[in-house]
Amino acid sequence: MAEFDGIQERKEGKKKIPLGMAVLFIGLVVCALVYLYLFLPQTTGWTQADRYEKLIKTQEAALTEHGKADVHAESEHEQMVAAEQGKEVYAAECAACHGEKLEGVVGPALGGPKFKYGAALEDHIRVITKGTQKGMPGFGQRLGAAKIRNVASYIHTRHKH
Ligand code: HEC
Repeated sequence: MAEFDGIQERKEGKKKIPLGMAVLFIGLVVCALVYLYLFLPQTTGWTQADRYEKLIKTQEAALTEHGKADVHAESEHEQMVAAEQGKEVYAAECAACHGEKLEGVVGPALGGPKFKYGAALEDHIRVITKGTQKGMPGFGQRLGAAKIRNVASYIHTRHKH
């Protein structure tokens, strides 16, 4: 029997594998099989590229959600400010024909919900800027784009739905 530095060689002839080694070996084989089953594209269809794409997609979705929320909050706030300023423009320029409370005088009521030229903010802006053939004067020159946007916002926020 050979011996080096106090370490003894196992007795030859007795070929039993130590229990610990056997457990470790079988454990590793089982792990390898489970791993192969789970992560081979041929079995479960799992691929690293797929996983990467999914991750990117969820992060992009989170980002755009966040972005949208921000833009929305901003524009709502802006609309409120615009409407508040538009109120003064309305009283000075529009109330004579459309009424103090948008109830209509010479011009039609502007409370909605139905509008001849459309109920969207853009529709109001267009009509107020260019006017119409039937009595609505164009205010493009007189007020400029900013004030027109404000007064359009004011009307828009007063819509009945
Ligand atoms: C001289 C009177 C007069 C003044 C001043 C006037 N409007 Fe008008 N407005 C009208 C008439 C009349 C109509 C209907 C036009 C038509 O049917 O083509 C109208 C139509 C409109 C419409 C379209 C309504 C619809 O049903 O689509 C809007 C919006 C509007 N006016 C907003 C304004 C705003 C804002 C101002 C002030 C900046 C203003 N108007 C000032 C007479 C006036």
